[in-house]
Amino acid sequence: MALITLLLSLLVVATGAALWALRRPEKTQINSKNSDKIRDINKYASRNEVASALSRLISEDGAGDWPPRCAHHDLPSCFQPYQDIYLELIPNMSTAHPTLDDEANGNRMAEFRGSMSKLLAQRVNIPEVEAALKRFEAGDRSAFTREAYNAVYCCIAVCRHAYRWATIPVVKQAQNEMVLDFPRELDAPWPYLQRHFGLTAESGNNTANVLLNFDESGDRIYKININMSDLIKQAEDVFFRMFLDVEVSGFPIYHEMVLTIVAFEQGRKEASLKHLESITGQLRELLAIFYNNMKDTRISRTVWLSYVQGFQGWGVGRMVNGEFDKFDGLSGNHVLFFQAVDAFLGLGRYLPDENMDRYIPVNQRNLCQAIKKHSIRDKLNDSEDSALKQEFLKIVNHMKVFRAAHRTRARPYLEHPAPERLIMTAGKSVLETPQTKGFEDAYKPLDDMLAQRLEVTV
Ligand code: HEM
Repeated sequence: MALITLLLSLLVVATGAALWALRRPEKTQINSKNSDKIRDINKYASRNEVASALSRLISEDGAGDWPPRCAHHDLPSCFQPYQDIYLELIPNMSTAHPTLDDEANGNRMAEFRGSMSKLLAQRVNIPEVEAALKRFEAGDRSAFTREAYNAVYCCIAVCRHAYRWATIPVVKQAQNEMVLDFPRELDAPWPYLQRHFGLTAESGNNTANVLLNFDESGDRIYKININMSDLIKQAEDVFFRMFLDVEVSGFPIYHEMVLTIVAFEQGRKEASLKHLESITGQLRELLAIFYNNMKDTRISRTVWLSYVQGFQGWGVGRMVNGEFDKFDGLSGNHVLFFQAVDAFLGLGRYLPDENMDRYIPVNQRNLCQAIKKHSIRDKLNDSEDSALKQEFLKIVNHMKVFRAAHRTRARPYLEHPAPERLIMTAGKSVLETPQTKGFEDAYKPLDDMLAQRLEVTV
């Protein structure tokens, strides 16, 4: 009898666990199996420039892992008000009924910004915030771990973006602003954080706003659309999770890149080929993240433009020596993985120097520079190294298919009507001028950039 009771209770527990697993929100398990690879990378760091740059990225920006670790639930106390204020105010930011009435939109923005400014002034102690950042900058890690620093970077960046737009969907009033004064609480920490990561933009970037916006159990912390439909919430979640998942799957590929290069430089070409083959296989799986998710059933085209993209834009700036200097928001072109693969293939960079310095953390820039410098592809000999050459071509072909698919799939998302706003991408800001003749005309330069990138992927 006792045995039957025990078996029955085990069955109930197992069924419950299975049901719970089914209902559980999608999560990405990060940072679970990298330790052997990190040891390997650190082992080569003293002898190889790529390993050294990757090791530095992991230990500094990654707080010991990659994708970066982020202590969102353990902020130094002087930064806690920022997180509280974001979480308190963000449910009011989106509206299910965007209006075309300029005055009403202006009022919504003023109300959001007014509440945020007031709460920040009441709760944030700027001297304490600056003192903590100064201590960290001077190398004192006693009160402030790297993973907490990462969490602060994300938190301040998303608070700045929330203040920038003040209402979602993004509206023309906000897009027409050229210069925006931020509350002192949002301006004071920014130069420290940007200096630490080696960036110059006033806007956030893919690392700050997206990659760091997950805790160690893979939960996304700073969401945008809290009280909106499930369709909107799913589009937001699936879209941003793709970028984390790309870096999760990217990490073992960075490791294999190091091994491919090290083996080749040591004259162990067979081993180099094995590592290269492993990259090809893993790349196919990584790109499936994009193919499986960037489609209407996962990220609805009816909501993406109005509810998901806008928050990550920027499009304001400042006057410098009589000239207007504008910053852009986030783009897929910030993603480390694609820059690293291009460098590994020996291709030229997509982003010009100015944009690299503004939006890409210095340790990511240095890693790609080291990979490019040690790219073995142009050292291959036609007859002796034909297997390696063939394998590189397979990687090139994967990237071509990705670029062609990205170009085709991006367009219908951007083309979807959003009458409350001007034509804009987050990464390139407003595309429309009074002379623009519709979407086709506004989008052509970007489409040309994507076509050009596909062409040089050889
Ligand atoms: C609806 C979703 C998306 C749209 C509308 C879109 C649109 C665009 C546009 C217009 C560009 C060219 C302008 C620029 O550089 O900013 C671009 C570049 C880029 N995007 Fe996206 N994108 C989307 C999603 C993604 C995703 C999910 C990824 C990767 C996971 C990605 C990766 C890239 C990369 C790597 C570039 C640089 C060009 C290249 O290397 O081929 N994009 N995107």
